[in-house]
Amino acid sequence: MAADTIRWEQDDTGVVTLVLDDPRHSANTMNAEFQASLAVVADRLESLRDTVRGVIVTSAKKTFFAGGDLRELIQAGPEDARRIFDSSMAVKRDLRRVETLGVPVVAAVNGAALGGGYEIALACHHRIALDAPGTVVGLPEVTLGLLPGAGGVTRTVRLLGIADALLKVLLQGARYTPRRALEAALVHETADSHEELLAKARAFIDAHPESRQPWDTPGYRIPGGTPADPRFAANLPAFPATLSKQTAGAPYPAPRAILAAAVEGAQVDFATAQTVEARYFTSLVTGRTAKNMIQAFFFDLQAVNSGTGRPGDIPAREVRKVLVLGAGMMGAGIAYACARAGIDVVLKDVTAEAAARGKGYSERLCDKAVDRGRTTREKADAVLARITPTADPADAAGCDAVIEAVFEDTALKQKVFQEVQDLVAPDALLCSNTSTLPITALAEGVARPADFIGLHFFSPVDKMPLVEIIKGGRTGEETLARAFDLVRQISKTPIVVNDSRGFFTSRVIGKFINEGVAMVAEGVEPASVEQAAAQAGYPAKVLALMDELTLTLPRRIRDESRRAVEANGGTWLPHPAEAVIDRMVEEFGRTGRGGGAGFYDYTDGKRDGLWPGLREHFTRPGTEVPFLDLQERMLFAESLDTVRLLDEGVLTSVAEANIGSLLGIGFPGWTGGALQYINGYEGGLPGFVARARELAERYGERFTPPASLVERAGRGEPYRDR
Ligand code: NAI
Repeated sequence: MAADTIRWEQDDTGVVTLVLDDPRHSANTMNAEFQASLAVVADRLESLRDTVRGVIVTSAKKTFFAGGDLRELIQAGPEDARRIFDSSMAVKRDLRRVETLGVPVVAAVNGAALGGGYEIALACHHRIALDAPGTVVGLPEVTLGLLPGAGGVTRTVRLLGIADALLKVLLQGARYTPRRALEAALVHETADSHEELLAKARAFIDAHPESRQPWDTPGYRIPGGTPADPRFAANLPAFPATLSKQTAGAPYPAPRAILAAAVEGAQVDFATAQTVEARYFTSLVTGRTAKNMIQAFFFDLQAVNSGTGRPGDIPAREVRKVLVLGAGMMGAGIAYACARAGIDVVLKDVTAEAAARGKGYSERLCDKAVDRGRTTREKADAVLARITPTADPADAAGCDAVIEAVFEDTALKQKVFQEVQDLVAPDALLCSNTSTLPITALAEGVARPADFIGLHFFSPVDKMPLVEIIKGGRTGEETLARAFDLVRQISKTPIVVNDSRGFFTSRVIGKFINEGVAMVAEGVEPASVEQAAAQAGYPAKVLALMDELTLTLPRRIRDESRRAVEANGGTWLPHPAEAVIDRMVEEFGRTGRGGGAGFYDYTDGKRDGLWPGLREHFTRPGTEVPFLDLQERMLFAESLDTVRLLDEGVLTSVAEANIGSLLGIGFPGWTGGALQYINGYEGGLPGFVARARELAERYGERFTPPASLVERAGRGEPYRDR
């Protein structure tokens, strides 16, 4: 096997620079070649121990080191456990050999060092990060359902103490810029240039000829103590509680494994801790959740961002100046997202005051970012200077894109486009942020329907990473490509869907909510419904979410849908949720949080508890619905509808379906998305189909698996894009 992914460069002063530079891949990963190279390097360093004065580890790639080889990890099954364990132990052993050589080893981190990359840096005595865009450090394994298996748990616990290692690094998987990494003691120094980086590395070697790690120094104790100390032990029970809060009881094995590896590892010597870590690592890698999460958050996300939904043969274009129509909640957020990405923004509302209020939103976000040290005042001011609030349509001149976010009203939306369409650039991209109105019909009201497209943002825009692009019946391919490029320009993730009522996200989240409300209709305790959503891993409880969206909105959409079905000669089949929503609105006047009362009570807009009347009027004591059914009904309702959307051609790829469900509507992350959930269900697709039939029998037709799914299960073919 080729062992040439680490280049050895020795100068005449006895300093060896190890250059991470995998010749076969664009990024350095912990693949088999790297492992072989590491072993060779460790041998060579040991044999030249007397002539080597110090070691610098740096990279020739854009990223310092990308981490584990996910292509390989995702394929590992239970039968590979031995191999995974051995390879984790081999990397640890070789890093440890370099760490204990007795000569100073410095990590000159000149690019992203996440996961395995930061673990390599942790094995070095001194870490210097190049303070440049793109350099980040951290251990984000938990976000892929994994734990750092190359010494990351063992060393962060010994570097920071158990509590800080867990809370700052391991459990959130946070990524640190060089400056923040310095504050958090994850690196020792930063450097402003490559030259300075290497000079500082050499200076460290000169000043510390016999460097060793703190944990290899006599008298060393883990900062903050270990579970054996009575003081520490008193706090220990808080950790599982924190963890439960974080995962709400949902099946995320990684945080638990990390906690266990950290606590157990702190009570034993370094070598044993490494073995403990490798054992937990192996159990996660060979399990199902890591596969789901790697598939979705790495492979699907990468595919979607690099163009799954974009026509490939159209050259990329950038937007320079955007007109945002409507400076309300959404318009204000969209203006901020665009300005942050360096786009000039004209933010128009009916009055100058309303427009200025919209800009005020960006001012608040910028102030907060400066306060928290996430940006400088100068940069924040530059963002704000890009936003021009106005009530004057003439300011639209020269804009090469329009994003409309006025009230949800077809006539009004068409009117505001007509007002500006002759003022903006003649080929300006025309986008509507409507959340429910069909794009094809809206486009009828503008002069250039081929340039018209839906751009559905999510609230709050600055936090939500997804944008759903909706292609109308007359939307041109070039328009689609430009809309896609605009979404990428503002660093969001675009999924592309064909026009349909509720598009993808609004329609599917509606199934989730309706299912929760249907349980209330059946007489299930409302608190159990909420608990089921939380334990299934949904970020929002179902009835609380309904209150946020208001109860009147789904009624209106339902009435429109019913009219459409009936106009077509069809029969409307009412969903069991409808009667509850109607009574809530008509009989009790409870329309949701906006109206001050809904499934919950509110004081000054803050949620108190579930409305006691809910139990009184709807709950039937003795209603026995198994808890697992409550959870799976929500998951199945959404997954099954996602399959129907694929069948209907609204969705056109599996990756977009998974990413849209995860980033847009809070489908639980451990599943890997609404279609990956079906792939990963116990028993695979046939298991899912059998369970769907069971739910259909117990709870209604809506769970009957679509024919396409049954056929796919018969072929044994999971949902995957080619
Ligand atoms: P909003 O009520 O906060 O803001 C609407 C703004 O449009 C107001 O500031 C209003 O003064 C302004 N406006 C009305 N007529 C105008 C005109 N002729 N010219 C310029 N401005 C005008 O509403 P919000 O929540 O921002 O929603 C806007 C759009 O975004 C709607 O179509 C909504 O369906 C959609 N949307 C909303 C989401 C949400 O979570 N609220 C999520 C995704 C889409």
